Amino acid sequence: MRAILLLGAPGAGKGTVAAMLLKTDPALAHVSTGDMLREAVKEGRPVGLQAKSYMEKGELVPDSVILGIVRERIERDGGRSDYLFDGFPRTLQQAGGLDEVLKEFGARVNAVLLLEVPEETLVSRLSGRRVCRVCGAVYHVANIPTKKPGICDRCGGEVAQRPDDNEATVRNRLAVYRRQTEPLIAHYRGRGLLFDIAAAGAPEATVAQIRERLAAL
Ligand code: AP5
Repeated sequence: MRAILLLGAPGAGKGTVAAMLLKTDPALAHVSTGDMLREAVKEGRPVGLQAKSYMEKGELVPDSVILGIVRERIERDGGRSDYLFDGFPRTLQQAGGLDEVLKEFGARVNAVLLLEVPEETLVSRLSGRRVCRVCGAVYHVANIPTKKPGICDRCGGEVAQRPDDNEATVRNRLAVYRRQTEPLIAHYRGRGLLFDIAAAGAPEATVAQIRERLAAL
């Protein structure tokens, strides 16, 4: 079992890159805490009810809730997969919790890929993002548009803006990232696990760098 972490600010392209990596490596288990929480909110599950108000404000959901859903996810398949974590961990406490869970399965963090994108690009990516309400596929009005306006290429569902992609919430998410998540960069760099990935260009260029890194592991 290997654990690869995608680290980066909101809008850095973590979800987009993960979807592309999964196409050529379907055995990879994609663990996106953001997607898991949105699903729990949609289904009205207790975790979703706990998380909703934090997500609407762009604040982090408490570490105990996040570590609970990640542990459950890994335990469900007995830790047999290679994992691609997207948007997790986001605090030093979550990083410690992940180490503990991985240790129970005789595993550890193998690599942390830091997607680097300038702030003005992040804001324009988030304001133009559109997400399928049915299957969750991610588009961008200018960069990665749907073939038919407003309709998902994959499933024909309606695409819409994510509720937390409004200007005020985006500003807060970026501030929260700087305050609570950026300390992870020094943490993982200090452990020799961090790889800088230039992610401001086309998604294919980002994915090519990642594949090269993963092949060298
Ligand atoms: P989450 O869903 O994880 O959001 P995020 O980290 O803010 O990241 P995003 O999903 O906004 O961006 P992304 O990097 O995946 O970019 P994407 O590929 O979509 O979390 C949401 C909320 O849940 C948090 O605010 C928090 O409340 C809670 N939460 C989640 N995890 C948590 C945790 N561990 N602890 C506590 N709370 C947690 O791309 C963005 C746009 O850009 C898209 O439109 C895409 O089409 C476009 N794009 C992507 N790449 C490119 C490219 N190379 N060129 C041009 N356009 C591109």
